[in-house]
Amino acid sequence: MANLVTCIALLLTLFVFSKAKAAPTYDVPAVFVFGDSTVDTGNNNKLVTVVKANFPPYGEAFFNKKATGRFSDGKLVPDYVVSALNLSDSLPPYAGHKVTANDFGVCFASAGTGLDDETATRFNVQTLAQQVKEFRLYIGNLSALKGEAETQEFLKKSLFITSVGSNDIMISYNLFLDRRTTYTLPQYHAFLLDRHKAFLQQLYELGARNFLVTGLPPIGCLPIQLTLESLKKSIIPGMPAAPRPNKCIQDQNNAAASYNKKLQQMIQGLLMKFISKERTRVVYLDNYNRLLDMSNNPEKYGFTETKRGCCGSGLVEMGPLCNSLDLMCSNPSQYMFFDSVHGTQAAYKVVAEDVMKVVHAMLAN
Ligand SMILES: *[C@@H]1O[C@H](CO)[C@@H](O)[C@H](O)[C@H]1NC(C)=O
Ligand SMILES: *[C@@H]1O[C@H](CO)[C@@H](O)[C@H](O)[C@H]1NC(C)=O
Repeated sequence: MANLVTCIALLLTLFVFSKAKAAPTYDVPAVFVFGDSTVDTGNNNKLVTVVKANFPPYGEAFFNKKATGRFSDGKLVPDYVVSALNLSDSLPPYAGHKVTANDFGVCFASAGTGLDDETATRFNVQTLAQQVKEFRLYIGNLSALKGEAETQEFLKKSLFITSVGSNDIMISYNLFLDRRTTYTLPQYHAFLLDRHKAFLQQLYELGARNFLVTGLPPIGCLPIQLTLESLKKSIIPGMPAAPRPNKCIQDQNNAAASYNKKLQQMIQGLLMKFISKERTRVVYLDNYNRLLDMSNNPEKYGFTETKRGCCGSGLVEMGPLCNSLDLMCSNPSQYMFFDSVHGTQAAYKVVAEDVMKVVHAMLAN
């Protein structure tokens, strides 16, 4: 008898233990992604634009070393997220995609885009409005296959990841003059946030209910920004006026952090509005602090270089300038950046782990 009790107790313990230990599983059928090069899995490949990455050494760590248009040596955060959700090993771009009833999401992001349409038009890439338009077409096709009600149920359970805004600040505001002559930086932030809000609202109206909204990275830590800083006061174009800084540029990081704070307030406001209608989750994804920590404490992540990209000199190369004529570092997994702007898959993998923590927390309540 005592043996039986022990035995049952043991079985119960094992049962409880195994239940507690098992990784959570969720009913997330798909992931949809909107934004810029940080999340674009290959939508620019057929566009007439210089903002492309569908040639080596991009993709050298991807499946079959394929240069897919991803601005990295390998996977991006959305790829890691669909893997963690057991949906697939990577997220396909919408460009060239054929909608089927088995879809687990697609990526509408377009490298070079911004919240400000001027950013996208400068590079002839897809504006956010065009990304939303494609999503609308996508829904039409999926509804034709699954039926409208089932498609709406599917979207309700899906994750929507957005990552956009850096190009507006780095290019439309900092590099060119037109926006800076019409807006102060706080005014430009407000303009961007209005656009961001309208964009999220459109996705909501189309059926999105689970949003992960990515904040700005520490822009002042990007290798290209360090290079530009040394050229800033050049008298002879292209000749550095000062040594290249070996630390992140504080005022650019402060500006990004200030934008992120306002973004979080905007999200809170939006959430109140959405939730009053229907159960909705809008979560801010903080990659700022993680990336800053990577930059400041490389050894924690196994990195030996965080101030230069792996491609070429690491100071300027990006897009067409990062090509097969460039020498590449021999150890990309020890680099935070693959080109002068974008992360290596080693860096994105860490960020994706943060994202999955947020996803777990979000879906648990
Ligand atoms: C994915 O699959 C693994 C192995 O079957 C499982 O342990 C894990 O809980 C699954 N994750 C999700 C989010 O469903
Ligand atoms: C959507 O459906 C239309 C009409 O059947 C078709 O021409 C188009 O190729 C489909 N688009 C995708 C992305 O599958």
